[in-house]
Amino acid sequence: MKDLITFNKPFVTSLDEDFFNKLNRGLTSLSGDGFYTKKINKWLENYTKSNKALLTHSCTAALEMSAILMNINAGDEVIMPSYTFVSTANAIVLRGGIPRFVDIREDTLNIDENYIENAINKKTKAIIPVHYAGVSAEMDTIINIAKEYRLFVAEDAAQGLMGSYKGKPLGAIGDLGSFSFHETKNIISGEGGALIVNNEEFIERSEIIREKGTNRSIYIKGEIDKYTWCDIGSSYLPAEIVSAFLLNQLNLSKRITKERLSIWNNYHSMLLSLEKKGLIKRPKIPNECKHNGHIYFILVEKNKRDKIIQKLFENNIQVTSHYEPLHSSKAGIKYCQISGSMNKTNYCANSIIRLPMWIGLTIEKQIYIVDMLEKTLKNL
Ligand SMILES: Cc1ncc(COP(=O)(O)O)c(C=O)c1O
Repeated sequence: MKDLITFNKPFVTSLDEDFFNKLNRGLTSLSGDGFYTKKINKWLENYTKSNKALLTHSCTAALEMSAILMNINAGDEVIMPSYTFVSTANAIVLRGGIPRFVDIREDTLNIDENYIENAINKKTKAIIPVHYAGVSAEMDTIINIAKEYRLFVAEDAAQGLMGSYKGKPLGAIGDLGSFSFHETKNIISGEGGALIVNNEEFIERSEIIREKGTNRSIYIKGEIDKYTWCDIGSSYLPAEIVSAFLLNQLNLSKRITKERLSIWNNYHSMLLSLEKKGLIKRPKIPNECKHNGHIYFILVEKNKRDKIIQKLFENNIQVTSHYEPLHSSKAGIKYCQISGSMNKTNYCANSIIRLPMWIGLTIEKQIYIVDMLEKTLKNL
């Protein structure tokens, strides 16, 4: 292959064709919460069957809203994996809370539910499971533990839209769920996110926190004649133009997921023989989970990983590692705690390779990627 096969290529669609017409006729706004945002909130509420869905400008924003809603205060602890994006932990640290990291499972790279109970103490207030690669964490176990110890569950479903656990959409299982529409995700709007509010207790406050701590949303509904400052909050709304882009993507979400799953399945069957030869490990999808084809990863010998990435790049294939574990990062050491060993987290972080995954990646390119991977593995 002559041209570089990039790791990601955003699936670019267009703005809703009626956006400027609607704008000129005063039927939507340029700022947030106009026609398109409301339509998407309804779309997400129907999809998740949740009490409330609120579009935000990022998943990071939705996670920060979750931390405020769960009343995370100084010294409160929140259990989560170390193998995640910084935003999962940052949301807690920004409130003065302490993320307590638990090791992950090697098959899904999700938090190991068997170690959660050991991490609970008097200060524990919540659990944030991350659905890595759009594959659910073991949610029945997590919800049962949370019920027993009266903890909140806020799902980090940044990668999880269109994935499900025992038939329930990811993001709709815990008290709260956060989605990302960042350009690296399956359904995109450049930057973007959403908060799904499943616990009724949080509905009223979620709208206030999202509107800079004011009751502006009920003012817009005409229920009061002035809006005022009622609580802490920030500006978490996306601009309407972002929503006008996202609506088209959401309307294509079934097609996008189907195409990604087909690419994922191609890799999975083509890589079986390399797994049988003991050269790689493939991801495992638990029976309870339907995933969305967000990431195809393999695990290789950790001291060979960087060489493999380099060799494939020399052959015009861009593959990448993923998260640097948070527990050993500069901020992680300063602000967070660990519970038990981080062996699997360290092993997976050092062994993972993510393969190119985007709509339009042809079977010829996939065959080339797998061939080059096999040649590289055999020659190392
Ligand atoms: C697990 C996880 N959580 C949160 C985020 C943050 O999402 P956003 O970029 O929409 O703020 C990401 C982004 O990659 C993520 O992978």
